[in-house]
Amino acid sequence: MDKISDETRDRLIKASFEAKDGAYSPYSKFRVGAALLTPNGEIIKGANIENASYGGTICAERTAIVKAVSEGTRKFVALAVTSDVASTISPCGFCRQVIREFCALDMPVFMAGANFFDANVKPDAKLKVMTVGELLPESFGPEHLELPRI
Ligand code: THU
Repeated sequence: MDKISDETRDRLIKASFEAKDGAYSPYSKFRVGAALLTPNGEIIKGANIENASYGGTICAERTAIVKAVSEGTRKFVALAVTSDVASTISPCGFCRQVIREFCALDMPVFMAGANFFDANVKPDAKLKVMTVGELLPESFGPEHLELPRI
């Protein structure tokens, strides 16, 4: 997978910050924003949408993926995730599996702290980058369903 430039990465992280505006999180009061980058440079945003029946909650990452896929976009080259806390947060287990359905194992996931754009904070303290394969090792994916049965 081609390397994402720092400029594009920052544009994607900025979009994930903006995505938080769409959060509906009256129960946890924990806003999450996600932004997906498509091969042609388009960005699709998603926020967490909670539910009074807590299990009905949809994370920001899945909102972004479902929005994109349902509008016909199925290829992505990077994902950014952020919240309102300084430490980086990583996609939950459910989201990792959903991300894995549509994204290459070597696709980067940028996890940015809410202080990402604060120049006084060192890069290591506000950004973590991992691939989809690192986040979900030994994963099960669409290609496994194509394997011959014995
Ligand atoms: N949440 C996300 O949207 N993405 C994550 O990666 C972790 C958790 C949301 C779900 C819920 O609305 C709130 O954060 C607290 O769990």
